[in-house]
Amino acid sequence: MSEVNEKTDLMAIDDVGDELADIIDWAIAFKHGGDLSYDFKPLDGMSIGSIYEKPSTRTRVSFEVGVSRLGGQPLTLLSNDIQLGKSESIADTAAVLSRFLDGITYRCFEHADAVELAEHSTVPVINALSDLHHPCQAAADLMTIVEHGGSVNGHIAWVGDGNNVFHDLLLAAVVLGRDVHYATPTGFEPDESIMERARRIASRTGSSIHGSNDPIEAVSGAGVIYTDIFVSMGEESIEGKFDAFEGFQVNEELVAHADPGYLFMHCLPAHRGEEVTDAVIDSSNSVVLDQAENRMWAQMSLLTYLCNNDAWHTYRELE
Ligand code: CP
Ligand code: NVA
Repeated sequence: MSEVNEKTDLMAIDDVGDELADIIDWAIAFKHGGDLSYDFKPLDGMSIGSIYEKPSTRTRVSFEVGVSRLGGQPLTLLSNDIQLGKSESIADTAAVLSRFLDGITYRCFEHADAVELAEHSTVPVINALSDLHHPCQAAADLMTIVEHGGSVNGHIAWVGDGNNVFHDLLLAAVVLGRDVHYATPTGFEPDESIMERARRIASRTGSSIHGSNDPIEAVSGAGVIYTDIFVSMGEESIEGKFDAFEGFQVNEELVAHADPGYLFMHCLPAHRGEEVTDAVIDSSNSVVLDQAENRMWAQMSLLTYLCNNDAWHTYRELE
């Protein structure tokens, strides 16, 4: 094994810095690349293992299909079936898996666990959702916004919990110079250290960030309205959390304050009738299925970038 560990991990979306714009452009080019992208197998001979401590539909399927499409072997490791968390530490699991695998994705409860796994792995580790971050979602979301570029007229508005999905949406948006207005109930604001990071990036890229507790203020003039479930996985026992979100539903009355061509976005799964109404999520403004599909394309770009960076550059030259 090499003494020098030069791998890049993806714990949060700003870990790829300003390369995010190119990672998204690569994903869009690859999605529309026809035979060129079908024949491109940068993960040939590689194996990517994905550990899940929480359920998943989109992340699991998009990683399994995406890794296969890139010529690699996907392995899904459900936490109930492996020793991690029972009779083996994160550090030992990381060291052992690094002897078999060329990359690891990890969906976990505690963000610190993802950081620990990354620290003890010699192969790239991708956070596939933790309590603090969801970088793969953000890459797909910004890809979706860029794809709909022509019709996005206004800032990105977030209505709901200041949660994992919001943290990386915000970080990705400001890296790409987009403006973000968010509204959360009192007590459910985003994490202050992540906000500080976002403000530092925004001051360099020229983005503006406005926070309030008023959904109407956040969506007024918005080109994108994004929401997520009020109670995330692992938070079910937080007493009274759901009730704090009264008035934060994205419904027809609220979206009337946005630009008429606004995009409605949601990472899914959606709890219809709670954070969003059927009328909004099923409207022609809704791009939630594009977001879901783009998880695969964005992750294919990220996997190639992190696990075979030379090939990632080669594909750009072939285009
Ligand atoms: N958006 C998302 O991460 O969905 P899953 O929980 O189904 O993976
Ligand atoms: N905030 C949600 C996102 C699910 C994809 C959660 O963590 O449960």
